[in-house]
Amino acid sequence: MDIVVDGLRRLEYRGYDSAGVAVVGDGELLTEKRAGKLAVLRAALADGALDAGTTGIGHTRWATHGGPTDRNAHPHLSSDNRIAVIHNGIIENFARLRAVLEADGVEFTSDTDTEVVAHLLASIDAPLPEAMRRVSRQLEGAFTLLAVSADNPDMVVGARRNSPLVVGRGDGENFLASDVSAFIAYTREAIELGQDQVVVITPSSIEIIDFAGVPMTGTDFHIDWDLKAAEKGGFDHFMLKEIADQPQAIADTLLGRLTDHGIALDEVRISDQDLRDVTKVFIVACGTAYHSGMVAKYAIEHWTRIPCEVELASEFRYRDPILDSSTLVIAISQSGETMDTLMALRHAKQQKARVLAICNTNGSTIPRESDAVLYTHGGPEIAVASTKAFLTQLVACYLLGLYLAQVRGIMYADEVGAVVRQLQQTPDLLRDLLDQMDPVRKLSRDLSSARQVLFIGRHVGYPVALEGALKLKELAYMHAEGFAAGELKHGPIALIDDDTPVICVVPSPVGNAMMRDKVVSNIQEVRARGARTIVIAEEGDEGVRAYADDLIFVPRVPTLLAPLMTTVPLQILACEIATARGYDVDQPRNLAKSVTVE
Ligand code: F6R
Repeated sequence: MDIVVDGLRRLEYRGYDSAGVAVVGDGELLTEKRAGKLAVLRAALADGALDAGTTGIGHTRWATHGGPTDRNAHPHLSSDNRIAVIHNGIIENFARLRAVLEADGVEFTSDTDTEVVAHLLASIDAPLPEAMRRVSRQLEGAFTLLAVSADNPDMVVGARRNSPLVVGRGDGENFLASDVSAFIAYTREAIELGQDQVVVITPSSIEIIDFAGVPMTGTDFHIDWDLKAAEKGGFDHFMLKEIADQPQAIADTLLGRLTDHGIALDEVRISDQDLRDVTKVFIVACGTAYHSGMVAKYAIEHWTRIPCEVELASEFRYRDPILDSSTLVIAISQSGETMDTLMALRHAKQQKARVLAICNTNGSTIPRESDAVLYTHGGPEIAVASTKAFLTQLVACYLLGLYLAQVRGIMYADEVGAVVRQLQQTPDLLRDLLDQMDPVRKLSRDLSSARQVLFIGRHVGYPVALEGALKLKELAYMHAEGFAAGELKHGPIALIDDDTPVICVVPSPVGNAMMRDKVVSNIQEVRARGARTIVIAEEGDEGVRAYADDLIFVPRVPTLLAPLMTTVPLQILACEIATARGYDVDQPRNLAKSVTVE
């Protein structure tokens, strides 16, 4: 039981509306499940009633069908209490399946889509693995399923379609989990499963079959994540630790990718000729990853002169974008499992585009289904709000943009090398910046009672403004909006009053005097209407002081790289405001780390 609950602790960031476990012991199935965070379940387990079982499953939930209540928490049981099931994803045809089961007299005890699986498994007179295979074939949608049965005390059966499931190969014990962090304390050897497969584990065996019953072999991989990377390491929150990890995460993402001949991206298995033939780039991503894509558009168009569009992954396939084999689609995803992004990439592949993933999670679905992958080396990101993943996504996008420019002969190796060397200085600059964040912490106490906060920026400062607003919304539950600085006067300026702080991201004056001056004018416009202005500007730009109620300097870097600096005070601000307002920074309400539904 301890192993299951410890695994849930490491996975809780994926969803935390409710939690539950089931163990098999003495020919009986014992379960406990509770609405609320894992701590509530732990308290319910404290009597030790489930301690005897040696085979178990556990689940933390992010509600889709049915509210976050005790009865909707997983596991779900068959009517005879002999089979328990947990599930991630959405079973799209559950209503039809439920109606058939109800017509046969089955009584349901929850509002979930999952419960149908428990009853379907019980209705098949066959061993559990065979029943799982047959049930999986009836299901539509995305699912990872795990089941245990009182009749098979040493066995856990899993199935997956479009939703993550990995196997951990232990010594006299084996594991199944949606993410390796659940079992890295016990084994570093893992197996990646394919699509539409059933896996059966016992303490001494692992068997994989496809939904047609054909034996399959998974792909072995070794997990080299340091376990400490998935612990808080003395910080109050994972988010604070992950913000502090950013210099190292950037350095790791750059490591080994610059040679004497320019950039070498060995994982990008798309030939140089194919990259030369690219006529159009699309970037698809969601949330914070989408903001990194917005920055990438500026860099890629500037360095390569290839037209580049950025699109919310959830919108991409619905507008019938024009794609062909000369289109490069870049899918950016920390988790590698975001369903909206996965569906966008599948649409791109159907239209014959080449797809390259930028991803932080080895072996996840998005890189597996892409033609090529460029991994960010951020290490595990546990806090739900993305921080180090964002900065490393930016670095990967810069590397990719430079690589494209190099392959296409637009930039020479020495020019590319010069930018990479500037990138290589950013970890040290960021360490200095992180040491100077006390004024931001103080400011956050002032801002924590504001009714709303607006963010403005121009050029790459615009996605930074959007990212700052997203962080504040998701962590502090405050109304926050990011705007292109020049767009404010076309409507949103009506929001400004003397109770509205405006955070202004100012571009470097070096080489961009006109753009910087335009943003300074926009700052004056909001100030004239009573706003308190919090200005983020480059060290040495003393000219902005006159327009700033609060001024935060960040180190000077080339304009395109500035988001690596300007984002960081905004991350800290959101984290501190949320803490001042008494909210759970690592697990904000209604969210989940990995969004595997559309
Ligand atoms: C915000 C945040 C989300 C994710 C988005 C995409 O802090 O974390 O907006 O960026 O859900 O997730 P990935 O990158 O895993 O595809």
